[in-house]
Amino acid sequence: MVLPTTQDSLFRLADRLLQSCHNRPQDALLNTIRRRLFVGHDVLGDSYGRIVPAEQRRALGATFTPPQVVRAMVAWAKTQGVTFERIIDPGAGSGRFVLAAAQAFPDAHIIAVEKDPHIVSLLRANIVLAGLIKRVSIIIDDYRSIHLPSAGRTLFIGNPPYVRHHDIEPRWKRWYTETFRAYGLPGSALAGLHLHFLLKTRQLAVSGDYGCFITAAEWLDVNYGSTARAMLMNGMGGRSLHLIDTASQVFPDAMTSAAIVCFEVGSSRRSLMIRRVQSSAQLGNLQGGMNITFSRAESQDKWSHLIRPND
Ligand SMILES: C[S@@+](CC[C@H](N)C(=O)[O-])C[C@H]1O[C@@H](n2cnc3c(N)ncnc32)[C@H](O)[C@@H]1O
Repeated sequence: MVLPTTQDSLFRLADRLLQSCHNRPQDALLNTIRRRLFVGHDVLGDSYGRIVPAEQRRALGATFTPPQVVRAMVAWAKTQGVTFERIIDPGAGSGRFVLAAAQAFPDAHIIAVEKDPHIVSLLRANIVLAGLIKRVSIIIDDYRSIHLPSAGRTLFIGNPPYVRHHDIEPRWKRWYTETFRAYGLPGSALAGLHLHFLLKTRQLAVSGDYGCFITAAEWLDVNYGSTARAMLMNGMGGRSLHLIDTASQVFPDAMTSAAIVCFEVGSSRRSLMIRRVQSSAQLGNLQGGMNITFSRAESQDKWSHLIRPND
């Protein structure tokens, strides 16, 4: 299989795959890419990561999630033993969470929210190749702007974009502080886009909904992350945190340490499990860790100090 080498050829390939699905379902290239997709290899997403320069992807926070991490997070959702009517992937990229969640929860309707129209062409091609077009709705918009009708139990799952506050427009910084004010908390103008996604999720979610996000870990320790930490303990139902050691570099081209946060909105629990793993290979299905009460967590400025490397 000849892989695309330029952005133009990649997006043309995605369009061609879409056309072939409708007009030439036996196309050899289409079948190869589809076969790979079924074994967890996202050819279009990988090509995007290879071809599109890091600085261009950075502006969008477009770093796609390694399959091992996607599997661990979807497995955690599965172990909750509840039925999800709806699954929302905010900042869906090429659809890695969409595809894995669709397989794990065959009765759920999935909503993929993605702002970038070029990336949407990859997402749409993957969804069509996987035969999921009837189960997935794509919203092409900024996640912070969307409105959703109410539905049954919803799972929010994904990898919110990591964009630093320097690149966030003033109107969205105002939105962040004003929205947090409604929860009685002070939102900082220094917060990155991943924290805006967390807040928007709090706004969309209702009691009984679940969530699992992988983010850069810095919000667990910095001042401007304290509001998000408070939100996790006040209504958002923080259940667990899984810190992946910086040395293992979860995202090959992004020099950030990663944390996975799991929550159950409206949960009455007053503690969360915190765990540190050396690499994503140790994530399993996100079980275990040290039980930390919310009152202890509240007393700490830096949450990464709540657990030592070998606890
Ligand atoms: C970190 S990537 C994750 C992609 C995919 N969910 C995955 O895990 O492989 C974040 C995605 O969010 C998209 N994005 C960035 N800003 C957005 C916004 N304001 N609203 C919706 N999507 C956005 C980017 O284009 C990118 O595809």
